[in-house]
Amino acid sequence: MALDKWGSPVSVRDAAALRGLERAIEKLNAYQADPVAEIDAVIAEHPDFAMAHAFRAGVFATAADKTFDGELRKSLAAAEALAGTANDRERGHIAAAAAWARGDFARATETWGRTAIAFPRDILAIQLAQLGDFYHGYSFMLRDRVARVLPHWTRDVPGYGFIQGMYAFGLEEAGEYGRAEAAGREAVALNPQDGWAVHAVAHVLEMTGRAGEGISWIRDTAPGWAPGSLFGYHNWWHLALFYIENGDRDAALKLFDDSVSAGGFGQALELVDGAALLWRLNLLGQDVGERWKTVVDNWRARIGHGYYAFNDLHAMMAMVAAGDDKGQAELLRTVEAAANGGGTNAMMSREVGLPACRGFAAFGRGDYVAAIDHLLPLRATAGRFGGSHAQRDIFAWTLIEAALRGGDGTLAQALIAERTAAKPASALTRAWHARARDLPASRAA
Ligand SMILES: [Fe+2]
Repeated sequence: MALDKWGSPVSVRDAAALRGLERAIEKLNAYQADPVAEIDAVIAEHPDFAMAHAFRAGVFATAADKTFDGELRKSLAAAEALAGTANDRERGHIAAAAAWARGDFARATETWGRTAIAFPRDILAIQLAQLGDFYHGYSFMLRDRVARVLPHWTRDVPGYGFIQGMYAFGLEEAGEYGRAEAAGREAVALNPQDGWAVHAVAHVLEMTGRAGEGISWIRDTAPGWAPGSLFGYHNWWHLALFYIENGDRDAALKLFDDSVSAGGFGQALELVDGAALLWRLNLLGQDVGERWKTVVDNWRARIGHGYYAFNDLHAMMAMVAAGDDKGQAELLRTVEAAANGGGTNAMMSREVGLPACRGFAAFGRGDYVAAIDHLLPLRATAGRFGGSHAQRDIFAWTLIEAALRGGDGTLAQALIAERTAAKPASALTRAWHARARDLPASRAA
């Protein structure tokens, strides 16, 4: 049986088609433009190439945006029609994409994961499984699903650096900051274009409160990963967080204008970052001018989707920022329906999305007691609707502000103590601490 450049079995006989798929996978590994254009060129020449369609389906599935559902289904249908020509590994990809398309994100992730166990040099399955783990907030699987295949990846295997970058992010989410930083730095040294590995190290620096180093890290590595990056907005978002942590909100705003918004907010992943950044700045009392407008407009167009609760919460931030009561009510109805619906998102909506959206809406109308009641329990459970620790930190930010604005000094000090323990040098934490000191004690729990 033929093997691809990583050593995974492939059913395609045409060498040019295989080279094209390999290029598309490598672009996806680096989040460099444009894996879809690359695979579309392959499909145009080889429309009967099942794995090319399965690749395309996997890319659109892991955008976690209902806007791309039509593309996912189109590619899935093409792949399924050709499944008889595919091998076991390729059929694993088709089955995973099918599970995602029917809303069973958990089964999809596990199917990519099983494919990676059976074919540990399948770098695409490893990457898609990691993205699935990310969307579930599976902190330890982000690490362990990569660890399972590590014995098959030595430095002489192509793609070794990308595997190290994925492992670095998993180690970071699992709290192993030292090993994460080492693996991430190794991956970036091997391939400066590896924006995911850059991102993994940025997470380490974020979680350990090393904002100054984070600023240098993103800036210094940018010439390697930023040109052509499809993921750049997110690394710039991390840089903006470092600026805010250091007290430099003007730099964060400029970064929003120049970089975070540069892609035009056409996909949910960008909109999540746009909303999360502006929400944080608003929490600190920063006037962000007209910057919400594009973010709000794009989220408003997605309100009825009920596709992924993590996205819905960020849509709620936008509706609150816009003062759009009708939009908030529609969104709450959407998330309630999702919570009572099917698929993985039902659990995510029920356990996290709905109370989170209710909490953020309460915050928006100044009902800080209700906001705290909805949001405080989610500090323990928010991982169930996915994202990273750094993204879910928005719960802590919002709770601290609710406590400060609601005059609950005891709760504010408790939440600030968490941050002081993790980030003793943070200017932001010190500023919160100063505000909390003068507040009265708590209402009873
Ligand atoms: Fe991140």
